[in-house]
Amino acid sequence: MSGAPPRLRPGTEVAPGVTVIRSIARSDVLDVYDAWDARRASRVAAKVLRPDRLAHRPSRAGLLREGRLLRALDHPHLVRAYDLVERPDPVLLLETLPGETLARLIDRSAESGRRIDTRSLAVLGLQLCSAIGYLHAEGVIHLDLKPANIIAGEARATVIDLNHAREPGRMKAGTGTWCYAAPEQARGGEVGVAADVWGVAIVLWECATAQLAFGDDDGDEETDTPQLARSVASVGRHRRLPGAFAAAIDGALAPDPAARATLADLARACEDAAGLPARERRLSRTLG
Ligand SMILES: Nc1ncnc2c1ncn2[C@@H]1O[C@H](COP(=O)(O)OP(=O)(O)OP(=O)(O)O)[C@@H](O)[C@H]1O
Ligand SMILES: [Mg+2]
Repeated sequence: MSGAPPRLRPGTEVAPGVTVIRSIARSDVLDVYDAWDARRASRVAAKVLRPDRLAHRPSRAGLLREGRLLRALDHPHLVRAYDLVERPDPVLLLETLPGETLARLIDRSAESGRRIDTRSLAVLGLQLCSAIGYLHAEGVIHLDLKPANIIAGEARATVIDLNHAREPGRMKAGTGTWCYAAPEQARGGEVGVAADVWGVAIVLWECATAQLAFGDDDGDEETDTPQLARSVASVGRHRRLPGAFAAAIDGALAPDPAARATLADLARACEDAAGLPARERRLSRTLG
């Protein structure tokens, strides 16, 4: 990234009593640091604006909105926010999640040829459906579900990055990440909970196949909105899965949101594939 300002040095105080240990990630707008929180005597993840974005009002508003939203939510598979410092510059303090993003795990799976087993994929699906079902019940859609926004630790997957999250309604074209957004997000217009069903399914599709559903890392698609030009290939073409599980993932990737499977449908298929006995199928009953 030429011309980008340097990242904060270790020891820099980003909020009262919170000092940088090292940089974790940088996007166009934000930096995430591994940091030490003296009050909690603990490491935290500090999400801050990049130095060159501090004066950019929409970026400030976006981080504040994300922080306020996360502070109001509480779910085992959604990143927890400890604090939102609003002034002088917004700083969001998050629990440090152990593990790696699914994007990194998929890269390694593609390199090694070892793919996630069906049961683990189904359990991942259940945890994502649980988090997203909770968000929807709170009146919020995530809108940016993708492997880089899910951190997988031992037996726990956690959804992060509520930067695009908002209430269902009309949206401008291109909300979210270009090759992961549901077709109706890419197109713009009315967007509802079905967009997140697509998001969960595209994550499961990529984990199952260790391939990208659209494009490659260079954005090598003929159009900026490949999801409007073609459907995602049936997951069964790239990976042998139980038929009903594969059909549910395909059904959740239907281009038309009205024809798309629901979160409850996807959860039910994950419960089947995980081999849950009838009495433990609480998630699909709750969502359904
Ligand atoms: N709580 C956390 N614990 C550990 N790592 C984290 C945490 N939050 C974020 N990260 C890391 O920082 C990266 C960027 O975080 P996040 O997705 O929230 O920021 P972003 O700038 O909105 O991202 P982008 O715009 O690139 O999607 C994540 O992909 C992950 O690697
Ligand atoms: Mg992100």
